[in-house]
Amino acid sequence: MTHVSDLFKLDEKVALVTGGGRGLGYFSAEGLVEAGADVAICGRDIHGKLDDAVEKLKKKGKDCIAIKCDITQEAEVKQMAKKIKDYYGKCDILVNNAGLGDLGPSKSYDIKRWNNLINTNLTGTFLCCREFGKIMIRQKNGNIINFSSMGGQIGFSMGMTAYATSKIGIVGLTRSLAVEWGKYNIRVNAILPGNTEEGLMERLKDKNGPAYERVGKPLVNLVPLKRLGSSDDIKGTIVFLASDASGYISGAKIVVDGGFTINSGV
Ligand SMILES: NC(=O)c1ccc[n+]([C@@H]2O[C@H](COP(=O)([O-])OP(=O)(O)OC[C@H]3O[C@@H](n4cnc5c(N)ncnc54)[C@H](OP(=O)(O)O)[C@@H]3O)[C@@H](O)[C@H]2O)c1
Repeated sequence: MTHVSDLFKLDEKVALVTGGGRGLGYFSAEGLVEAGADVAICGRDIHGKLDDAVEKLKKKGKDCIAIKCDITQEAEVKQMAKKIKDYYGKCDILVNNAGLGDLGPSKSYDIKRWNNLINTNLTGTFLCCREFGKIMIRQKNGNIINFSSMGGQIGFSMGMTAYATSKIGIVGLTRSLAVEWGKYNIRVNAILPGNTEEGLMERLKDKNGPAYERVGKPLVNLVPLKRLGSSDDIKGTIVFLASDASGYISGAKIVVDGGFTINSGV
């Protein structure tokens, strides 16, 4: 029997985190590195943060690389898979974190915005699953973690239809791939974060700021744990899902929302 602390170790593993240059993707990459994996991160790098992120990750003693890649572009995703195969010789873990949030009332939501959001959150995630799935099928080993959201499970009044559609789509993609690729020893799971005080929702971090007063406070009131999610909540879940500690979990939705979506409110 394996010692429990060894179940969480990721030594000798190679991971890719899409959108790993900032936000929840960066914390996911940091968790994987701290657990022992070599980690590649990718993004379009429009904020110029990829190289800084790699330097910070490298200081933790593992081999990290940055790859510029727009996951909506099929040719770029194929090129990224080739780069990782050439450099590391394999890919054990794929974390599909890259995604967009874009809110707007449905009755006037422009089709260009709809297509951009679905192309990024859903089609881009599928392209990465497909290209890295080919590597994992050849290896007869792999682990894919897809970022969905609690926003795909319940309705919100502030114009989240495109986002919610993309995120419930991720759950369907995850379950189908888990069944289709289980015979190749590939696990596929979805993480469903709630409102986390990082990344897209970073403005809620300042408890004295106007965004926290207007949006953060009412949301926190609905969270049984009475706080927003943190970088550690994401990091811990990603390492759990990426490691042998979750070895018999596949096709699951892991909800990380402090109980928000199961709260009846009374
Ligand atoms: N923060 C939350 O409260 C929360 C809650 C539930 C779910 N989520 C999910 O968690 C994931 C990360 O969100 P976040 O809050 O960390 O957002 P964020 O800070 O805005 O980061 C998004 C990341 O995705 C990358 N990205 C976006 N479009 C891309 C593209 N076409 N190709 C490659 N990379 C792309 C960005 O890199 P570049 O700009 O360099 O391309 C960036 O690294 C998303 O899937 C989001 O839906 C977040």
